Amino acid sequence: MLTRPVSGSSPSSPASAPLTEPDTPLARHVREGLSLPFKTLSSTYLYDDEGSRLFQQIMALPEYYPTRTEFGLLTRHQEAISRALRPQNPTESFFLLELGAGDGLKTKILLRHLLETGAQFTYVPVDISKAAVDGLAASLRTELPALQVEPVVADYAEALRLMASRPGRKAVLFLGSTIGNFLPPDRQQFLQSLAQPLTPDDRLLVGFDLQKDPRLIRAAYDDSQGVTARFNLNLLQRLNRELGADFDLSQWQHYTDYEPLSGAVRSFLVSCQAQAVHFAALDWQVEFAAWEMIHTENSYKFTRPGIGAAAQDSGLAVEEFFTDEQDYFADVILRPAR
Ligand code: AVI
Repeated sequence: MLTRPVSGSSPSSPASAPLTEPDTPLARHVREGLSLPFKTLSSTYLYDDEGSRLFQQIMALPEYYPTRTEFGLLTRHQEAISRALRPQNPTESFFLLELGAGDGLKTKILLRHLLETGAQFTYVPVDISKAAVDGLAASLRTELPALQVEPVVADYAEALRLMASRPGRKAVLFLGSTIGNFLPPDRQQFLQSLAQPLTPDDRLLVGFDLQKDPRLIRAAYDDSQGVTARFNLNLLQRLNRELGADFDLSQWQHYTDYEPLSGAVRSFLVSCQAQAVHFAALDWQVEFAAWEMIHTENSYKFTRPGIGAAAQDSGLAVEEFFTDEQDYFADVILRPAR
């Protein structure tokens, strides 16, 4: 999924780091993030196998409106969205690239419509997880056997570079409001990196969750069955497993809040008592005060003018704006502004 680099002071080296200390992105990130004055870990690391399974469950929760709303929106506007994405000349072929394709459930609405209306295209699902793209490609072979699929296992930047070198029109999909998980400066940089390899005829379709009743937004991240809590707490389990940490999960709570001034839902893991956590693989110990928190995720909610400004700041222009009947969610067609 995403990378949200943590900025701030570098952690100091431990007095005696073991020679075998893992030099992995997770190990480096944890040392840095848990040494910050306000401890922070990137939401990227929420998605190990168990985290991805729990996220699938979140998407089906009654409180988590974004997935079913975007599904309804794509169903409602499939014709206009497909028209906006494909070349005007019906015989011209194009690539439909999807960043973070997941199970492709929502995308299949567009894929089916494009096939039925005779569009000439190759679908390129991109994900860093080989299991995810292989699973999607396999389901597409049975459900849409006529579809040309070229799965790519790569990070987004690499996939876009790869595609830029191939001639032909492109339409890039980035659905699900994953754009909301970036901090604003990182969002701008990410959108710029999407815009940069596009030619004037190429198009982007980005999903944005919109600002709405704040209670509804907050409930989506604090569901009554506790699935989102398990999703967040699973990060500590991952650190126990991968870095030999000894987090006692019974001493941690999930906490989330929607802050309308910034438009961000912020999620935290709260230490219910003063405690020290040892990371065996890092030969390192971290102290937590009672009620100290680890910030684990941002989920920004947008306004229509805010989306226009974010696009403009990144060298993009809004071409068409599609919403559901309740104005909960927007799928926005963007094009390079130059
Ligand atoms: C992946 N992303 C768009 C989800 C969101 O809504 O921010 C992740 C999520 N976190 C908790 N619930 C869902």
